[in-house]
Amino acid sequence: MTRVFHRQLSSPLPVAVAAQGTTVTDAQGKTYIDGCGGAAVSCLGHNHPGVLAAMKAQMERLAYAHTAFFTNEASEALADELVEHAPAGISHVYFVSGGSEAMESALKMARQYFVEIGQPQRRLFIARKQSFHGNTLGALAVGGNEWRRRQFAPLLIDTHHVSPCYDYRGRAPEETPEAYGERLANELEAKIAALGPENVIAFIAETVVGATAGALTAVPGYFKRIREICDRHGILLILDEVMCGMGRTGTLHACEQEGISPDIMAIAKGLGGGFVAIGATLVSQKLMNAFLDGSKLFQHGHTYIGHPIACAGALEVQRVMRRDNLLANVKKLGAVLTDRLHERFGNHHHVGDIRGRGLFQAIELVADRSSKVPFDPAMKLHAKIKAEAMERGLMVYPMGGTIDGERGDHVLLAPPFIADEPLIGTIVERLGEAVDSAIAKAR
Ligand SMILES: Cc1ncc(COP(=O)(O)O)c(C=O)c1O
Repeated sequence: MTRVFHRQLSSPLPVAVAAQGTTVTDAQGKTYIDGCGGAAVSCLGHNHPGVLAAMKAQMERLAYAHTAFFTNEASEALADELVEHAPAGISHVYFVSGGSEAMESALKMARQYFVEIGQPQRRLFIARKQSFHGNTLGALAVGGNEWRRRQFAPLLIDTHHVSPCYDYRGRAPEETPEAYGERLANELEAKIAALGPENVIAFIAETVVGATAGALTAVPGYFKRIREICDRHGILLILDEVMCGMGRTGTLHACEQEGISPDIMAIAKGLGGGFVAIGATLVSQKLMNAFLDGSKLFQHGHTYIGHPIACAGALEVQRVMRRDNLLANVKKLGAVLTDRLHERFGNHHHVGDIRGRGLFQAIELVADRSSKVPFDPAMKLHAKIKAEAMERGLMVYPMGGTIDGERGDHVLLAPPFIADEPLIGTIVERLGEAVDSAIAKAR
């Protein structure tokens, strides 16, 4: 009997005992291809010797020194590395232990910024439906996934949500992508007007939506308009690149492809690649100046912020990415993945959309392609596909509630950046078998 309070208590999980490169092995000796990097985490694959060596060297020198007493070389070096390659305007890094903490820090930093500059009346966040920003209460509150929020709703801060940029379902048949983006931007502007611009702290968005909607990319021009609107009203733009950032979409930051810079950005998964528990909140000079000229104290903090081993591991992950030119591989293999997905699912009766960027792509499942009607949520098709894929030795990241937190199913793929073409082919082949088998059995 397990004493672990697992994520889900309905069925036992295999025990992972080893992992190497692009595979994970369980206690029965069965090997699984990591087609999703866990949850888009394992960018360098598993057991990277260079990263392990960097962590060991740090551990032997200095494992821990509380950040209320000391800074440390590893966090200073990682901050330098991140700022050097950050979007324009980003000047400082606040280190935490994961994605939710990075978002919590972002929310509090944004609020305190306005207190520092004498606008304490700003108290509202606007985010998007169908987003996920983490499971701690602040991050959960700004997230727009109904299913995740529902039972905790009485505990959540008041947040306002606008429509996601969801081309497949949101754009009208006669509407151009640009006109759709404009319509969504106008919706945000109307929401700001309704709330009173002087009351709004920030607009929050995943640059490419991950877990809740499956690799939703924005239409051209959308984020530029969002940036303009935020600037016009003195509202901050917080981008959540916890999942889609750090190279996953083919550029280090997903927002590079949108031609904009945020005021604050949360990163995590690909930062430490799963070797270490780390996240970070990247902050612009504009915000930093307010803290420097004001209280000189961000009223926040955790015991493990700037942890030396986490920072040393993450620094090596970033160095390996650069040294081995892995972003080029993400771009190249991303194109291969798109091709393979279209070959396998382009005419599939039950795949309505294939989308995403780089090694961050998804398929959306439908009962009927022409009407886009989803499968009955009671079928839990996403869970069945996951089980069928695991049977076939493949890890993928399916999720239900794609459309509105209740209806819709998608499967997210996020293979390690060290993959190759044959592996991408095998991932898509096994996924195809898993999808077909799950649908056949669900009937
Ligand atoms: C976009 C996004 N933000 C925040 C989080 C929360 O990160 P963590 O699970 O590390 O707390 C996630 C996790 O999946 C995420 O995908």
